Amino acid sequence: MISPVRKMFDGIASRYDFLNHFLSCGQDVLWRRACCRELRHALKNGDRALDENCAGEKNCIGDKKCASDKNCAAVRLLDLCGGTGDFAVTFEKFCGKPAKAILGDFSYGMLRGAAGKKTSAAPVQLDAMKMPFADSQFDVILNGFGMRNLPDARGGLQESFRILDNGGYLCVLEFFSPRNVFNKFFYKVLAPLFIPVMGAFFSGKREAYEYLVNSIIRFLPVDEFCRLAEECGFEVKRVKMFDGGISFGVFLQKPQKAADASQGSVAR
Ligand SMILES: C[S@@+](CC[C@H](N)C(=O)[O-])C[C@H]1O[C@@H](n2cnc3c(N)ncnc32)[C@H](O)[C@@H]1O
Repeated sequence: MISPVRKMFDGIASRYDFLNHFLSCGQDVLWRRACCRELRHALKNGDRALDENCAGEKNCIGDKKCASDKNCAAVRLLDLCGGTGDFAVTFEKFCGKPAKAILGDFSYGMLRGAAGKKTSAAPVQLDAMKMPFADSQFDVILNGFGMRNLPDARGGLQESFRILDNGGYLCVLEFFSPRNVFNKFFYKVLAPLFIPVMGAFFSGKREAYEYLVNSIIRFLPVDEFCRLAEECGFEVKRVKMFDGGISFGVFLQKPQKAADASQGSVAR
C-alpha cells in the first residue's frame, strides 16, 4: 500500500521547488549551501575522503593537486529523501562531482522534478527505512528536510548508519521542534496562519502544508535528536543553527574503526 506521506509528496511535487523557496524566502538555498561548505571543509581536512596524494582533479573533492587518478578517494554520495535533488545539486557545486551519486526518494513525482537539474545523481525510488544497498556503501549521506517525515527517526538513523562507510558523514538539515520562545511563536502561531494558506493558494493542497507545520511541532527538538543519533552509534560533530533556530544542520559521523578513532572530525 502507498503511504499517505508518499501520496502527499507526489501531489505537491510539481509546485515543491517554488513553494519551498517562496515560503522560506529563499533561505533553504542558503542553508543547503552552508551545509555543503561545511562538508567540503570536513572532507578536505578529514582523514578518509581525501587522499593526501590525490584530490583536485575535476572529479575529486578538494583543491590540492591530484598525483594519481588511481589514488583518488572520491566520494560516494547519497542524497536521501532527496526529492527534486536540490541538495545533490548544491553538493556538486561546492564539493565537485562525486565518484558515485544517488538521489533516493520514495516519491516518483518528486524524483521526476530533478530531471534537467545539474547533478550527476541517479534517481532511485526507495524507502529510507529499508534501502536496497549493502552495508558501508557511502561516504556522505545528505538528508534535507526528510528525517521528520520518516515513521521512526531511530530506524531511519540506524538504516543510514548501516550504509555509511566508517568515517562517513550524515548531514541532516531539518526543522526541529521549537524550544525557545521566538521559535515557538513562529511555528505555533505564525506558521499555522500563513503556510497552509499560501500552500493552498499555490498548490491547491492545503492539507500538505498543514502537515508540514504539524510535522515540525511533533518532531524531536535538536538536542534530543542528537542524543538519539549518538544512541544509534553516530558521533555528533557539529550542530549549526540557522536563522535563530528556524532550522539546523546536524553533522554526524560514523566513527572510524577503533584504530583511527582520534582522527577526522569536522572543524567546529
Ligand atoms: C520536504 S521534502 C525534502 C526534499 C529535499 N531533500 C529538499 O532538500 O528540498 C522530503 C522528502 O522526503 C521524502 N520521503 C519522506 N519519507 C520517505 C521515506 N520513508 N523514504 C524515502 N523518501 C521519503 C519525500 O518524498 C520528500 O521528497
